[in-house]
Amino acid sequence: MDKMWSGRFSASASTLLDKFNASIMFDRKLYREDIEGSIAHATMLENQGILNSTELLQIMDGLNQVLQEIESGEFEWKISDEDLHMAIEKRLTAIIGDAGKKLHTARSRNDQVAVDFRRFVLRKNREIIEAIKLLMREILVVAEKHTETLMPGMTHLQHAQPINFAFHLGAYLSMFKRDIERFESSYTRNNVSPLGCAALAGTPHAIDRSMTAELLGFDSVSVNCLDTVSDRDFALEILFNISTMMMHISRLSEELVMWSSYEFGFVELSDEYSTGSSIMPQKKNPDVPELLRGKTGRVYGSLMGLLTVMKGLPLAYNKDTQEDKEGVFDAVETAEISLEILKEAIKTMQVKAHNMKNASKIGHLSATDLADYLVEKCGIPFREAHFITGKAVAKSEELKIDLSDIELHYLQAIDSRINADVLKFLSIENSMNARVSFGGTATVRTKEQLDYFKNYIKD
Ligand code: ARG
Repeated sequence: MDKMWSGRFSASASTLLDKFNASIMFDRKLYREDIEGSIAHATMLENQGILNSTELLQIMDGLNQVLQEIESGEFEWKISDEDLHMAIEKRLTAIIGDAGKKLHTARSRNDQVAVDFRRFVLRKNREIIEAIKLLMREILVVAEKHTETLMPGMTHLQHAQPINFAFHLGAYLSMFKRDIERFESSYTRNNVSPLGCAALAGTPHAIDRSMTAELLGFDSVSVNCLDTVSDRDFALEILFNISTMMMHISRLSEELVMWSSYEFGFVELSDEYSTGSSIMPQKKNPDVPELLRGKTGRVYGSLMGLLTVMKGLPLAYNKDTQEDKEGVFDAVETAEISLEILKEAIKTMQVKAHNMKNASKIGHLSATDLADYLVEKCGIPFREAHFITGKAVAKSEELKIDLSDIELHYLQAIDSRINADVLKFLSIENSMNARVSFGGTATVRTKEQLDYFKNYIKD
């Protein structure tokens, strides 16, 4: 009968219940948030005359001792204590005696866990933003070297129009910027203190919620206690934000896997971030991007898991909610290591610009430019220009050359309105640099885009 809530019980909890009911083996990760929350709560209670100054001092000293015991590994985490909140309070009372029993005045584990978990998630929103910026910085370093490196831009995974490699990387910089914005907006929206909501309905004690909110770094105090103790939107948001970010990481990873193949040969991942085969001695496998692609799946799983946990809950707190933590912890850890290893893989990979350029000479990538030439310089309607270009492509196929290498007389035999100035339009490089519309691939535009992202991550 050593439970904190054992007053109304006449028999002890079964060990099976302890094992099933406990969250202590995972929620102990929140020990810092829990102790800081208790210190803020006690400080406020003293300020309001609910605790005296001696009691406050004892509680602060006691909690600091508990913190040290946890950090040195001395603290005994017992399943029978159920969760970290009760384990810490129990140890505090064992150290300081009666004052420890007053700490839980005007508080419930319902607002306590809401504070702890919310603060953990808010902190992770910020830390992940910083990690994304580091990744973007590394992508920018590579991109800046390749604003003129031609590669085939694709649609339907078919060669479409020539672009440069920096422009391609710029697409990912755009995605990661949006990810940062999502983490920022979740941070701002959820930076609201649950402390003082108590079990569900507030408390008759004369507490000061603004004071604890300020002590804990929250922007404001939540408005409705019933909602607050059961709200896990902040956890769902970080899971969604991480899921979307991992989807972006996964798309880039998929390209890295393809690009590392013999068929593409656009990049070679460094030995440091590649693995070998246990049977085929010649192999060098892109395990890092493959695993990043795979880990995206488990993060989605955590998001779907928590959405499902929440969907049928009546107000207010329900024990189901205890299932909110492990998925978030796992997703956060996955996000952190994924961002870091992707950054390293990109930093150390070798870009095979020559192969990219050769690939952009396959598939008649300047065909659209020939059609545009016919429209612009010869005054031919686009539909007709499209048809004439088709003929030029067919001729190139017959000659087994790329359209960019076709000789003028072949083109003039197809349509006599074509002049020598067409050849400039057919060059792959000119084709890329012709796309000067805002947001386009031309080297000048690409450089502007890189400057934009550099400026964005500066602070
Ligand atoms: N371990 C619980 C959780 O993580 C803490 C809140 C428990 N509250 C309660 N009334 N049983 O959700």
